[in-house]
Amino acid sequence: MNSFVVLNVFWVLISAFHNVVTSVFIDPLGYIVYCPCMGRFGNQADHFLGALGFAHALNRTLVLPPWVEYRYGEPKSIQVPFDKYFKVQPLMKFHKVMTMEKFMDEVAPIEWPSNKRVSFCYMERGTSAIKSCNAKEGNPFGPFWDTYSIDFDGSEFYGPLHYDVYHHNMAEQWNNKYPAQKFPVLAFTGAPASFPVQQENRELQKYLEWSNQVTMKAETFLKEILPKGAFVGIHLRNGIDWVRACEHIKDSPNLFAAPQCLGYRNERGKATQDMCLPTKETIIRQLKRTIKTINNSGNKDNIIKSIYVASDSNHMIVDLNEALKRMKVEVFKYPESNPHVDLIILGRANHFIGNCISSFSAFVKRERDVHKFPSSFWAFPKDKGRGHIHDEL
Ligand SMILES: *[C@@H]1O[C@H](CO)[C@@H](O)[C@H](O)[C@H]1NC(C)=O
Ligand SMILES: *[C@@H]1O[C@H](CO)[C@@H](O)[C@H](O)[C@H]1NC(C)=O
Repeated sequence: MNSFVVLNVFWVLISAFHNVVTSVFIDPLGYIVYCPCMGRFGNQADHFLGALGFAHALNRTLVLPPWVEYRYGEPKSIQVPFDKYFKVQPLMKFHKVMTMEKFMDEVAPIEWPSNKRVSFCYMERGTSAIKSCNAKEGNPFGPFWDTYSIDFDGSEFYGPLHYDVYHHNMAEQWNNKYPAQKFPVLAFTGAPASFPVQQENRELQKYLEWSNQVTMKAETFLKEILPKGAFVGIHLRNGIDWVRACEHIKDSPNLFAAPQCLGYRNERGKATQDMCLPTKETIIRQLKRTIKTINNSGNKDNIIKSIYVASDSNHMIVDLNEALKRMKVEVFKYPESNPHVDLIILGRANHFIGNCISSFSAFVKRERDVHKFPSSFWAFPKDKGRGHIHDEL
């Protein structure tokens, strides 16, 4: 063992025992911080993949923001550390990242002292008379930065720069306008990413691996509650906010996550009401057909024994149980509201049926694509066989 190795081992030991940071690595190429200030988990996940692609192109360290959650009856958002749900290590295979907590503890005191914090936005926002990003105005904006005791001393409007780093040498333009020596930290009022996720960033999903904590919950349910054998996972997005959004589907043929089905320029058609909010008939017909098709594929291990339902509102357990009784298929949901466990279970189903328009479904679809697991969507592609004599179900 040479003395260098000995010294290294020594330092590791000291750090481990005293839990002190003896030296902090500072990325000379700078950092990107942002608030996932739009939407719930599905939207934030879309934005996360975009921000990851953006940080990679600029070659700045991405600070992994907490997930912003809203609890019923609470006026302020709640910030949940990124690594409660996802592992940090797999992301590092793709790019330099660190959690917001670690960044604030170790890097901010050196690179981002409290009198040098500038917020970045495309153009002025908020209601104040002064031209500003007003980064902390409103919920979740204020609560988000307050979680880390962050105040801003200034604003920077970066327009017309944008986030499409796969075209127009955008990364170079950012780095020219905001060199890391002068702007070590770019702190964005919202995600530096588009919604829905840009096509080129979809494959970054493979670096998102669920944490052991949530994975264990899902696995316990699969082992102890769900019957042995194959199951179909379905997502029923049908809360009142969704019902209202779907009313306008005709005027927004590429609403929310619709491009995952229809293409980014509607090259595979326009969104329909039934894709957005499938009727009970559509759901049951499609479910029966899916079960039959899988059942008849000839693989004994593939006989569908149960359905797992994730929903933000109505799981339709009674209706579905009634409809599938004769097929000897039982319908389940997770006993408590836990969208992350839902996502993991849907990700592992033998088949998944999701909602084209929903970014929650889109997360499941991308994750299943990573593993080449089959998925389909409600009322898409358009059902040609409807009402035909061959359509015996
Ligand atoms: C990105 O930055 C890291 C150092 O932080 C460096 O090792 C790496 O080569 C850079 N990548 C590119 C493509 O410049
Ligand atoms: C599923 O397949 C099994 C064995 O191939 C068969 O006995 C059963 O009737 C099928 N059920 C349905 C609903 O198709």
